Amino acid sequence: MKLTLKILRQENPGAKSTTETYTVEDVDPDMRFLYMLDMLNGRLIKEGIRPIAFDHGCREGICGDCGFMINGVPHGHHSGKTVCQLYMREFEEGDVLLLEPFRSRALPVIQDLLVDTRALERVVQAGAFVPSFAVEETRPEQSQSLDEKAGPPPFCIECGACVAACPNASAMLFAGAKFATVSGFHPDRSDRSSRVTRIVAHMDTEGFGACSNHGECEAVCPKGISVDLIAGLNAGYISAALRRLGK
Ligand code: SF4
Ligand code: FES
Repeated sequence: MKLTLKILRQENPGAKSTTETYTVEDVDPDMRFLYMLDMLNGRLIKEGIRPIAFDHGCREGICGDCGFMINGVPHGHHSGKTVCQLYMREFEEGDVLLLEPFRSRALPVIQDLLVDTRALERVVQAGAFVPSFAVEETRPEQSQSLDEKAGPPPFCIECGACVAACPNASAMLFAGAKFATVSGFHPDRSDRSSRVTRIVAHMDTEGFGACSNHGECEAVCPKGISVDLIAGLNAGYISAALRRLGK
């Protein structure tokens, strides 16, 4: 396969970005997307050009490190997948792909496609949440849902795609998923009211925007997390506020 990549390149956080065009040839359809970028980077290094910076870790859709925009959509148009899970056979011969970093005030660009997502971790810390895998690793009788109607815990990988897709750069889907995990599944449900109050306040501090119910977040979430969890977060927040007022 032969493709044209238009990639936003930015030397450092304060630098102006430019769009550079690269042609990649001999792409194996069974190659993963990030390996195609590795191949391009190998060529750039040989040519004395700085390789394209992008984040990655597990390359299995688990760690949430790899997100960027493909033709204007976080993780691309392939629902339910992270960038690292994409195969080149999901694209067409001759495709022109625009690769850009996630853009929002709270997730600043470090270099090229690499963004700083530590604000999401700080929201988790503000709520003293635990990662989803920690919930799954608790004893089976503990990790059962405390609400019988609820399904399995939402597996938010903290990728930031929901923030990148939201016109307000809101992190409400992410926070809703974390709150649902801790309030519905984790055996320690103490301190729910102050947890939800702290995370909502901390999202403002980090510069995430407000939710205005566009639903773009759900559409791009690689883990299929539902906007219903935003309603759960809002309900928890209102209930905490009423409790503070003694109502
Ligand atoms: S809610 Fe979905 S899109 Fe948002 S950070 Fe979690 S996994 Fe990524
Ligand atoms: S590299 Fe871990 S989710 Fe993509």
